[in-house]
Amino acid sequence: MFDHECGFSVGNVSQTDLRLLKTLSEEIKAVCPKRSWTPAHVWQMGENENIQNLSRPSRNIFLAIANLFVKAPHLLFQKVWVVESSANEADTTVLPFLPHFDRNRTTKIMFYLTDVELKHGPMFIAKDIIPSAFEAKRKVATARGDNLVSDAYLEFLALTGNAGHFHIFDTNIPHYAGRPFDGGMRQIIRFDFIHKDQ
Ligand SMILES: [Fe+2]
Repeated sequence: MFDHECGFSVGNVSQTDLRLLKTLSEEIKAVCPKRSWTPAHVWQMGENENIQNLSRPSRNIFLAIANLFVKAPHLLFQKVWVVESSANEADTTVLPFLPHFDRNRTTKIMFYLTDVELKHGPMFIAKDIIPSAFEAKRKVATARGDNLVSDAYLEFLALTGNAGHFHIFDTNIPHYAGRPFDGGMRQIIRFDFIHKDQ
């Protein structure tokens, strides 16, 4: 069970679930428009959007994950992103490649669909941070229109892992996307759950 106070967890899915997530990702890419302004390739599926166009196995795994936090009343499923980033396209001067916390507090489940070592641009997350401790800071930063983080004491951990790795994190924990290099690319699927009270 995910510890919402801690706000961070890692794990691995089975090979069967990895295959299902890969198929779901390909189907989302086929039925959802690609977002044009992001510094990576992003396809978005919202709640109940185009679900009828998915195959039954994809629909089932989509709904299973989207309903994962139904017993956490402070969270509401919001959207799925399929993201592909590569060395050529990563603009490291903009989000998500700079340390930040999200303006809208969200708990995200990110599944790696490909093996992710340093050259593939893993997620980096600040160590030993209690998400609620950043809530006041997030509100001030959001009001200012700025959510970058530059605190020198923060230590970031690279979330490397093989295809099938997942991590769950509260976006109040400072984080950033690593820059792919040496021809590295990564493919992920991410489920977002917005915090209702913020
Ligand atoms: Fe973020």
